[in-house]
Amino acid sequence: MDFAAQKAILKTKYGENKLQYTAHLAALWLKKLYHRPFRNIYAYGKGNKISYCPEGLKIYIWGNGNVIDIDPSVSFFQGKIEIGEGQSPTNNCIVKIGAKSSAAGIHISLREDNSTITIGKNCMFSWGIKIWNTDFHAIYSETTKECLNIGKAITIGDHVWLGQATYVLKNTTIAENSIVGAGAIVSKKFTEPNVIIAGIPARVVKRGINWSSATPNNYLKDGSFSF
Ligand SMILES: CC(C)(COP(=O)(O)OP(=O)(O)OC[C@H]1O[C@@H](n2cnc3c(N)ncnc32)[C@H](O)[C@@H]1OP(=O)(O)O)[C@@H](O)C(=O)NCCC(=O)NCCS
Repeated sequence: MDFAAQKAILKTKYGENKLQYTAHLAALWLKKLYHRPFRNIYAYGKGNKISYCPEGLKIYIWGNGNVIDIDPSVSFFQGKIEIGEGQSPTNNCIVKIGAKSSAAGIHISLREDNSTITIGKNCMFSWGIKIWNTDFHAIYSETTKECLNIGKAITIGDHVWLGQATYVLKNTTIAENSIVGAGAIVSKKFTEPNVIIAGIPARVVKRGINWSSATPNNYLKDGSFSF
């Protein structure tokens, strides 16, 4: 219900009692203010761009020139996206979330400059999902001192289903129409489409599959599957 309609209802309810009317109106206004989508965005730095933040998602940015590009059709995407942190500002990262993708509970994190996370269209992510394009702490060569674990790009193709409590780690790829089994840890590039990836470390356990967000019951009733 929009604010004007709520005001009209309150007017009818309280009639001449202006004090109660004003108090109730003020409470509604505060509630509305608290729930405004921009309350979910905390960006510290310059030149950061956020195209859109669906309700239920929190975005934290510490750094400059980062881009969060979420398709406006993404309505259900619960969780948190973090770029950088107070002690470690992070710059020029890109996070893209494609049309109609959804997540019930996700933690996306980037800590390396110029790194990217790309999520395709029509993806379905379950609860307890981590997509971390960083290990958060450096691993280096004992001899050369070179940093060995820099997060660069995570790519998740169109129509990928991540099962409950999966970890998608730095520099990984999951190709389109694939499924990641519950509890998997994905730590390398899976470029073959239409596969099921599962286990720790994740490996391909089935090929030549696809999936639907319908329950198996409804999928069968629908008649779209025949024996
Ligand atoms: C990934 C999944 C969908 C695959 O289902 P499936 O096609 O029926 O797979 P199968 O049971 O035939 O398993 C195939 C192989 O993968 C293994 N496997 C399946 N899921 C696994 C998992 N989560 N972790 C590790 N291994 C797994 C099986 O043990 C089997 O191994 P084998 O070939 O050595 O015997 C399912 O196992 C799963 O993880 N379901 C949970 C989905 C979920 O999280 N839903 C929450 C709502 S979004």
